[in-house]
Amino acid sequence: VVARPEGRAAFIRSAISYLRTHNFDGLNLAWEYPGQNGSPSSDKERFTLLVTELSKAFEDDAKDNRKTQLLLSANVASFRSTIDRAYEVEKIAHPLDFINVMTYDYHGHWEGVTGQNSPLYRSSVDSGSHVHHNINSSISHWLALGAPSEKLLLGFPTYGRTYRLTTGASGLGAPSNGPADAGPYTRTAGFWSFYEICNFDSGAIVEWIPEQEVPYATYGSSWVGYDDKRSYSSKVQWMTNNNLGGAHVWTLDMDDFGGYFCADGTYPLINHLRMPSPLTPTTTKAPTTTRDPVAEFCSGRPNGLYENVSDKTTYFQCFQGNTYLQRCQSGLIYWDSCKCCNWP
Ligand SMILES: *[C@@H]1O[C@H](CO)[C@@H](O)[C@H](O)[C@H]1NC(C)=O
Ligand SMILES: *[C@@H]1O[C@H](CO)[C@@H](O)[C@H](O)[C@H]1NC(C)=O
Repeated sequence: VVARPEGRAAFIRSAISYLRTHNFDGLNLAWEYPGQNGSPSSDKERFTLLVTELSKAFEDDAKDNRKTQLLLSANVASFRSTIDRAYEVEKIAHPLDFINVMTYDYHGHWEGVTGQNSPLYRSSVDSGSHVHHNINSSISHWLALGAPSEKLLLGFPTYGRTYRLTTGASGLGAPSNGPADAGPYTRTAGFWSFYEICNFDSGAIVEWIPEQEVPYATYGSSWVGYDDKRSYSSKVQWMTNNNLGGAHVWTLDMDDFGGYFCADGTYPLINHLRMPSPLTPTTTKAPTTTRDPVAEFCSGRPNGLYENVSDKTTYFQCFQGNTYLQRCQSGLIYWDSCKCCNWP
């Protein structure tokens, strides 16, 4: 697809046609990875060309057809060596709207000792290049290479990676010889979906890794490093402190989508993740005499999007009584008829 200009042009034409036909909002590229796994090293530059040409074509398509511009995003690597070989970071950052950093699969049963799937920080048992196998290190690298923080989306896994313990040891770095048994539903050795983890019976021992801010559990000789609501909260806090653009999830269907397993409603992890921090915290110390009219807007209103009559380039998003003032892309205004931003 990327080797020649004609190949890229054909792909871009067919992508736009497909996206418009089916009313998609945009395109996400998931290539693991340019310049690796059989892709020649010149694909690093060709990936930049693909992204740049896609962005230009999306811009023209929006102008020509007076439609909201299609979004362009990409799933990208989290290991430093892979990032360096695959991307011209500064050059792809501008044309991309979002950069989904795949901040998971940092450790797995292939390593022979236990490690957490998606830790926030390094652990004291990490050595060599493994000191970089964590979210803090990956995102630091993306930022150092020139990625704007507001375009980076942190990857939240809804699964854990499993190991079979071989000795009495069960902590981080304990010897293992492969994956635990496949989960009863996902039926693939090496990982368990959150809905296969959350309902562990009393035989499981859950431990928190304070230095990495993520949990693991042992169940007989099975070991799983996974994410729960507490680790999601830690990561959201970290994401906010570092001014990242937001989150993406791998995957929707590994959360307890039907609410059958965790006794915590549907999508317990993702619903926990999407709980926004309020525009003005409800616990604000501001005296009640200076109530903020913007922050009050959603009080008593159902969840949803609302017109801001005094400024059509913005709109209100109400969620659980909290108000979020949102802004349309430049040149667009909010239309209540479609609950979307579009041309005036
Ligand atoms: C997080 O990354 C930064 C930048 O690389 C580093 O200075 C800091 O020590 C890291 N924090 C932890 C707790 O590892
Ligand atoms: C509409 O948006 C502006 C900010 O663009 C805000 O200052 C104003 O208060 C909003 N209108 C209402 C009714 O809250």
